Amino acid sequence: MRNILIVDDELNIGLLLSKFLTRNGFEVSTATSGKKAMECLSVNSFDLILCDYRLEDTDGKEILIKVKELYPQTGVIIITGYSDIRLAVELIKLGAYDYITKPLYPDEILNTINKAIETQQALLEAVGIPVMEGSPKPAHFDTDNFIIGQSETSKELLKQITLVSPTNYSVILTGESGTGKEAVAKAIHISSLRKDGPFVAMDCGSLTKDLAGSEFFGHEKGAFTGATYTKIGHFEMANGGTLFLDEVANLSYDIQAALLRIVQERKVKRLGSTKEIDIDVRIIVATNENLVNAMSNGRFREDLYHRFNEFSINLPPLRDRGKDIMVFANSFLKAANQELNKNVAAFSKEVEACFYTYNWPGNVRELKNVVRRATLLTEGQTIPLKALPLEISTYAKIPIAEAEVQRQPKPVDLKNTALEAEYEAIIKVLREVNFNKTKAAKVLNIDRKTLYNKMKAVNLDS
Ligand SMILES: Nc1ncnc2c1ncn2[C@@H]1O[C@H](COP(=O)(O)OP(=O)(O)OP(=O)(O)O)[C@@H](O)[C@H]1O
Ligand SMILES: [Mg+2]
Repeated sequence: MRNILIVDDELNIGLLLSKFLTRNGFEVSTATSGKKAMECLSVNSFDLILCDYRLEDTDGKEILIKVKELYPQTGVIIITGYSDIRLAVELIKLGAYDYITKPLYPDEILNTINKAIETQQALLEAVGIPVMEGSPKPAHFDTDNFIIGQSETSKELLKQITLVSPTNYSVILTGESGTGKEAVAKAIHISSLRKDGPFVAMDCGSLTKDLAGSEFFGHEKGAFTGATYTKIGHFEMANGGTLFLDEVANLSYDIQAALLRIVQERKVKRLGSTKEIDIDVRIIVATNENLVNAMSNGRFREDLYHRFNEFSINLPPLRDRGKDIMVFANSFLKAANQELNKNVAAFSKEVEACFYTYNWPGNVRELKNVVRRATLLTEGQTIPLKALPLEISTYAKIPIAEAEVQRQPKPVDLKNTALEAEYEAIIKVLREVNFNKTKAAKVLNIDRKTLYNKMKAVNLDS
């Protein structure tokens, strides 16, 4: 748990802030004067101080100076009534992490606090000061809407991200498509000391052999036919920051050799140039192919693999993340509401059940798309089963046909019985072939057109 000290002589504000932060998972103490604040600091250690600039017995600047001298591991955020840029600059120069102006907005406060704690932690780890025991992270890990689940897997993931971020280690991210490899790469970058440097993503999967060299290293004008201008390569672009190489298993052997050289020497030469440029780039690579296999097939260089493999994180498929599924779903719902200017409140019970049983081959990306689509389609407060695409809604505990029957009871007749049986057969086969209708038709021994007609008849045409 993170410890925060609120210093404010307005009792009400202190109380309000204290309640709000406690609700967000922080351990909060309050002090109503500068003197009391220093007393608190002498008996407890705090991760962060949230201090009003104007206090009766002193001011935020004085407290800041004392804290930086006596308790350098504690971050300071100053709250002030006026938005005075000069004061802000001065406070930040003196070591304040940031500066918030009144009126206070909960989101802004939480954001600033989380960033401050994260930066503080990254700094401490970088200089080798052990981080205090406790929960590994604030409840709200602010890295561009990066969502952290509640499962054990997520906690482990978070721990790994937190551990590796402040280092300069290269990282290999593995995981099925859509599990969030790029999202994690960005999270690592944002919570590293390079966060103010660039994050450059490069899709190695779409690189042609001819272009790969100049994409990576850049080229001088006239370096080859068609090089009509000087181009800066991705390594140079990422200088001072992080270079994210996606689908790294797709790189040709030549390029792998050139990469190895750069990674070892930390220097790059543009094609057609003799000048070496020093580069300071952290490399994160992602792959949904098993690199160990690629190595044993001779398609991936072992030496390069070991360079990259200073740390590795495997992202689990969504279907294995248990209750995280709804954490993701709710967060995507909130975002979709904002994006679409809607006010959908929740998922129906059936939808939730479906989400837990469906196998999510497209992982988080698929869930995000499904939620956005469902939000758009939903007119009421609750997302109904019918707002989900067919391949997912059929995973509901109650099959659609049954749900239909429940809603509008029909007399049992032979025709309906036959339809029910057809429905069951069609659904079973569709699931087996992953909703590929051509394959399903083949298995069912009917043509595609007949399958479509039958699907329509049993309400399966989404
Ligand atoms: N932890 C997360 N928090 C918020 N959004 C996430 C998270 N993980 C994944 N996403 C979202 O899911 C989508 C897919 O994520 P991402 O592109 O990182 O996956 P990937 O593993 O790189 O996929 P691929 O292998 O297909 O390239 C993106 O829209 C991303 O924003
Ligand atoms: Mg990706």
